Amino acid sequence: MSLFKRIKRSLTGTKQTGDNKSRVMISKNNEIITTFDPQKSPPEISEREVEILKDCWKIVKQDVAKVGIITFVGLFETHPDVHDAFMSFRAVNTSDKEYNAILRAHALRVMGTVDKCIYRLDNREKLRELMTELGIRHKNYSVKIEFIDLIGIQFISSIKPHLETVWTGQHEKAWDHLFMLMCYYMRKGMCSI
Ligand code: HEM
Repeated sequence: MSLFKRIKRSLTGTKQTGDNKSRVMISKNNEIITTFDPQKSPPEISEREVEILKDCWKIVKQDVAKVGIITFVGLFETHPDVHDAFMSFRAVNTSDKEYNAILRAHALRVMGTVDKCIYRLDNREKLRELMTELGIRHKNYSVKIEFIDLIGIQFISSIKPHLETVWTGQHEKAWDHLFMLMCYYMRKGMCSI
């Protein structure tokens, strides 16, 4: 079993399922790298989408650690080069246990950022500030700009099973738009230095 599968299993208590595999394949089909124009206006999120996002988040939040870890493990499986961007992961002697702790900590930080953005949907200026500054810091962590866009699709795949009973195309669009907005400002920050 691969290291990623072992980590996922030990952290979430789940095995790699056929479902997870098909989610990974969806991500592979979306491996189109978009060019970023910082002059373009930010993506829009409608009032109805804000409502959907807030409602969904109440449910997803209950399993936030699991969602975060599955998002990142899925990302590393589909894009192994993203893995190298994590400086601290490069240490040769890092044990599975230490690796799990690092992965869990980062996944939780990302989920914490999603949480903040959901609440800042009512204050877009604060959302802009938060994500632009985070983008600047990611540039300093030497993260490639094209990696930023890869998180959204993995995150959406990870939350779907938690929202199975309510999920529609509108939900998919709402989350897609949120990540487009978050990533837009992050990339803008990255381009600013
Ligand atoms: C929507 C996407 C992402 C969000 C919201 C996010 C969020 C965060 C947060 C909150 C931190 C904690 C430190 C800080 O606030 O500066 C962090 C650190 C970090 N992130 Fe991200 N991140 C994202 C994507 C990525 C990607 C795609 C990579 C790698 C390719 C990455 C690599 C790192 C690294 C290397 C650190 C610093 C060290 C560490 O915590 O392990 N991040 N990220």
